[in-house]
Formats: sequence, C-alpha cells, structure tokens
Amino acid sequence: MPRPFIIALLIGAIVSLPAHAGGDVDAGRAFFNQDCGGCHALSSDTNHYAPNLNCIIGRAAASAPFPRYTPDMKALEANGLVWDHQNLDAFLTDPKTFARERLQNPDAIILMQVEVAEAADRQNVIAYIESRCR
Ligand code: HEC
Repeated sequence: MPRPFIIALLIGAIVSLPAHAGGDVDAGRAFFNQDCGGCHALSSDTNHYAPNLNCIIGRAAASAPFPRYTPDMKALEANGLVWDHQNLDAFLTDPKTFARERLQNPDAIILMQVEVAEAADRQNVIAYIESRCR
C-alpha cells in the first residue's frame, strides 16, 4: 500500500474519532423519540412499521425479525455489513447514498429515508440506542 494512502487512512481514523466518543444519552433519547420512535422500537419483539433497533451495534444489517426489509437492505446484509459506530454514523447521515456506495449500485432504494444532518445528533442518538441494549 502506498505510504500517502496509509497516512490518509490514519488521518481519517483520527478525524472520525469524535463520532465514536460517547454522545449525550439524554439528548439522544429526546432525539430518538422525536425523529425515530414513530417508526422504530427498541424492544426486540416489536417490529411494526420498521425493524427494531435493539442492540443494533454489533448486529448484522437487516437481521431483525422484520418481514418487510427491501431487497437492497437485505443486499447490505448479504454484503456482510455489521453495524458499528462508524458505519451507523455514515448511514444516518445519508442512508440512500450509504446504501448505494456500499452496494456499488446507483439505483439502490431503501425505505430508511431520515437523514440526521448534525454530527452531535447522530452521536447522541447512537449513544441512546446503545444504552438501551438489553
Ligand atoms: C418513517 C419511518 C422511519 C423513521 C422516522 C426512521 N426510520 Fe430507520 N428505517 C425505517 C425502515 C422502513 C427501515 C428498513 C429499510 C428497508 O428495509 O429498506 C429502516 C432501517 C433502519 C436501520 C437499519 C436496521 C437494520 O435492521 O439493519 C437503522 C439503523 C435505522 N433505520 C435507524 C433509524 C434512526 C436512528 C432513526 C431516527 C434518526 C430512524 N431510523 C428513523 C423507517 C424509519
């Protein structure tokens, strides 16, 4: 691997560190209730309109017992995607672009369309979801 590339990777890792740092769980709860909770539950047995997000960190994409995942969401799972802080942060920034880039398919369509523009909101909501993992 050429050295500039390795350095760029290292810088990228350092710059993205704040996205991993603990967010504010209380702020994340308020954000979740307002922007996610209408569709998603956090309890593992509730998958009404959208898949539950119980223990989503460390879980394979599209692996909740949710019968209506789109084919492209299932393709992310087949592609080996396992949610971690970093890819969840990227997904929440722009789910459609994330899926298209990951699948290398410019026509990929998924039903998760909420974009969380603010990095702090993403960190907080991820911290809250993680805090509720049972
Ligand atoms: C309008 C309903 C709706 C809202 C609001 C919504 N989502 Fe989703 N979300 C979905 C649906 C539907 C899917 C499944 C997408 C598919 O199969 O294409 C999904 C998928 C996901 C996934 C992937 C789940 C898995 O099993 O791999 C995550 C993570 C996620 N949403 C997080 C969030 C977060 C965090 C918020 C709040 C910022 C949010 N969503 C807001 C409907 C919603």
